[in-house]
Amino acid sequence: MRIILLLLIAAFVMPLSNVEAQKAKTIDELAKMFDASQCKSCHAEIYAQWEKSHHARPLMGVKGGLMLTPLALKKGEKGSTAFSEDDPKKMKISNFPCFKCHLPQAVTHAEDSVAVELTEALLAKDSEKVAKLQITCIVCHNEKAIIHKRELGGPEKGVLYSAKEVTSHPDATFKTVKKSAIMNNSVYCGQCHGLGPNLEFDQAFQCANLYGSYLHNYVSGGGTQSCQDCHMKKGDHLIAPNFNDEKQTSELLASALSLHVETLGYEWLRKANTYTPKVVVTTKITSNAGHRIPDG
Ligand code: HEC
Ligand code: HEC
Ligand code: HEC
Ligand code: HEC
Ligand code: HEC
Repeated sequence: MRIILLLLIAAFVMPLSNVEAQKAKTIDELAKMFDASQCKSCHAEIYAQWEKSHHARPLMGVKGGLMLTPLALKKGEKGSTAFSEDDPKKMKISNFPCFKCHLPQAVTHAEDSVAVELTEALLAKDSEKVAKLQITCIVCHNEKAIIHKRELGGPEKGVLYSAKEVTSHPDATFKTVKKSAIMNNSVYCGQCHGLGPNLEFDQAFQCANLYGSYLHNYVSGGGTQSCQDCHMKKGDHLIAPNFNDEKQTSELLASALSLHVETLGYEWLRKANTYTPKVVVTTKITSNAGHRIPDG
């Protein structure tokens, strides 16, 4: 009887622990779940562009500045934040609200132990470990490809999504590419590029809000291009600007901003023989970006 009871309990407990087992416990496990290195062999050019992009190093900061470090510091310590804890072991996924956009797979696929490991890696300035966490091909072409989950269900395992369908895709794991309703639409980028302050957290804060600016300033003023039209011409996955490349960034900015200056110099004769030099400068800066710059 005991044995039968134990077996029954086991039968009920097993599926639950299987669900748990799907979540990554370590940084390596999470990186492996979303590893996209196999895509390189066939999509070499796109892969090389992506590797240089900010999406390939979303927790590294500009020029390797490990920008999540303030959250890892001890609560109360100089430079720490409201999300910090007094002991790194207390850090949870929810202590990093930044994951919503900088590493969305951590919210859905990682246990709190990943947050502890990340905190310790940040404190140890272990860039190599932090660099393993990326917005990979699979994050964009699976995890973030569906926004109407109530109607369409969540992204399926072993399926990629793109702007068009590919019925037999030669990858060993991802055998089909389904058409995503949003992949070539600005709302796709808007999932992470922000509408404004993130008010849904117990401690509100603001990071990127370009999508808000795009909708309420560019589109409402008659703008017709999508983020992809301007940033992903011919499928370019560098998705410039790359702020680690100063030359390219300043060239892009120079081509995006035009400066028109008009000056008028004159002398003001206030009283006899007293000439005061004056100048009128009219400056017009025109940006052809689809939103405010800079952002974030
Ligand atoms: C063995 C080669 C091979 C591998 C590996 C491979 N692909 Fe592909 N992929 C292709 C080919 C070929 C096509 C084009 C099929 C077509 O257009 O009919 C394609 C198409 C695609 C498309 C759709 C393109 C479009 O026009 O919208 C996406 C997205 C894609 N692959 C992503 C990936 C990702 C992500 C990986 C890694 C997880 C990957 N592929 C791995 C060969 C490969
Ligand atoms: C709503 C999505 C979103 C959230 C939430 C978010 N970020 Fe960001 N963050 C972005 C995007 C997108 C960029 C890059 C584009 C831009 O600047 O517009 C960015 C850029 C940054 C940058 C500048 C680039 C760099 O790597 O140095 C820093 C620093 C940053 N985020 C820190 C944080 C921190 C810390 C948190 C959590 C407290 C956070 N972000 C939460 C989306 C977000
Ligand atoms: C930040 C999100 C993001 C990442 C990361 C990303 N993609 Fe894409 N990818 C897109 C979007 C969006 C499109 C559709 C662009 C369009 O329709 O204009 C696209 C289009 C494509 C296409 C079709 C290209 C074409 O010429 O039509 C292929 C193939 C592809 N991606 C493969 C990959 C591979 C391989 C990786 C990893 C190396 C990758 N993507 C990483 C967002 C992403
Ligand atoms: C999964 C969330 C996510 C998606 C989807 C996404 N991005 Fe990003 N993007 C980010 C984050 C996070 C960064 C900043 C990484 C860092 O800290 O350097 C970034 C960086 C960038 C940058 C580099 C400039 C900068 O300020 O860092 C550009 C340009 C960009 N994204 C454009 C796009 C476009 C266009 C799309 C849609 C095709 C898109 N992104 C989709 C999260 C995302
Ligand atoms: C009409 C073309 C156009 C459209 C539409 C557009 N962008 Fe841009 N974007 C630009 C230009 C031009 C720049 C500035 C030049 C540069 O440095 O690349 C820029 C810069 C950026 C940057 C860097 C911001 C910074 O702080 O300097 C990000 C991130 C970005 N765009 C994301 C997006 C996203 C996401 C969308 C859609 C919601 C979008 N863009 C729509 C043209 C466009």
